[in-house]
Amino acid sequence: MNVLIIGSGGRENAIAWKISQSKLLTKLYCAPGNPGTSKVAQNLQINITDFHKIKELVLQHKIELVVVGPEEPLVNGLRDFFLADEQLRDVLFVGPCSKGARLEGSKDFAKEFMVKYNIPTAAYSTFGPDQYPQAIEFMKSLEAPYVIKADGLAAGKGVVIADSLDQASSDLKLILDGKFGKAGNKVVIEEFLHGIEMSLFVLTDGKNHMVLPEAKDYKRIGDGDKGPNTGGMGAVSPVPFANDEFMHKVEQNIVLPTLKGLRQEDIDYRGFLFIGLMNCNGNPYVIEYNVRMGDPETEAVMPRIKSDLLSHLIASAKGELNKETLEKDPSTALTVMLVSGGYPGEYSKGHPIEIDRQMDKKIVFHAGTTIRDGSLVTSGGRVIAITQLGSSIDECQRNIYEDVAKIRFKGMNYRKDIGNDIKE
Ligand code: AMP
Ligand code: GLY
Repeated sequence: MNVLIIGSGGRENAIAWKISQSKLLTKLYCAPGNPGTSKVAQNLQINITDFHKIKELVLQHKIELVVVGPEEPLVNGLRDFFLADEQLRDVLFVGPCSKGARLEGSKDFAKEFMVKYNIPTAAYSTFGPDQYPQAIEFMKSLEAPYVIKADGLAAGKGVVIADSLDQASSDLKLILDGKFGKAGNKVVIEEFLHGIEMSLFVLTDGKNHMVLPEAKDYKRIGDGDKGPNTGGMGAVSPVPFANDEFMHKVEQNIVLPTLKGLRQEDIDYRGFLFIGLMNCNGNPYVIEYNVRMGDPETEAVMPRIKSDLLSHLIASAKGELNKETLEKDPSTALTVMLVSGGYPGEYSKGHPIEIDRQMDKKIVFHAGTTIRDGSLVTSGGRVIAITQLGSSIDECQRNIYEDVAKIRFKGMNYRKDIGNDIKE
């Protein structure tokens, strides 16, 4: 089977790496991909918002299965575009239609959906641009800190957590005045949930589902969860507190009602569903839905899948996931993201990256790298993810922090405490 992965980050590199191991694969393409994906796939240069160009590539390379990495093309209707086109209709596709992608594309839609299907989540209310006074009144009914979310896609930056009502009021004003562009036309204000977060990944065909290895993401830039939010500085899988009892509650109270809700809304959801969960005293609550895999969680999750991911993806697209069995590696996977100095604020690009030969045998995924004049250089905030498998978080940490020294670029920064908070 010829497969096309759409996207260019560490997540897509990890998915490509895993699919490249499949016996069912004939040829793998990644568009636009990066220097990491080019080791296991052929990169095709495109702009992922250009659906007509994607069509051209699919026909030219006889692609039989498309896997979409990021949310944007899904929210913008790439799946709908395929369904509406006679030549593309029968191409297998992993990713929901735009109606399903609203679970991520509109926080208001997601909250309404959760309330309608009785899925545990933080109490909330939604306000439009002319409802500033009502929004303030609602915040007064909540306790600090205050959680304010722009309704639409804001490249992972649309959430503000304010410690005081004063701060929340001025943040709210900025959002309604357009700080996040159109994404902030509506805002969701919600109760702050206290607990530990984890990321759950479900692959579904609309009727059946499989729960992939779960992971914990480290979002803040600094050790001890200090400093500003990033796209993610590292990940660990499995998550020790996600034991059988907790996962049973997740399945019964969250996964099954979500999939049933999607069917009742007439959404034929085929693809990945990422459920951001908060563990509040042993009870799971949904923080958010995403209609894709997480990044950097995927870099820890893929190495723990022993069975053939491509076979699972084909089954998800065909509606035959009931025929598949997921096999997980019981090992721990730990991922550390190497980032540019200054990230998530301003940072410079184009710095040469040196990777020692010994790393050839290790699991290394590229996120923000490119080739310039024949050499590998940095091209983004998150540059390279290293993943280590081992029998414990401690063992993974020992190995991975040795390996970090084998990769170098100017200004390189990383967290030194990935996994510390969930060691048992
Ligand atoms: P979201 O984009 O909805 O995932 O929000 C980004 C981050 O903000 C989450 O990963 C949480 O760390 C935090 N967050 C969002 N909603 C809440 C909430 N209701 N209570 C506590 N933290 C939250
Ligand atoms: N790591 C969180 C995300 O992908 O949204």
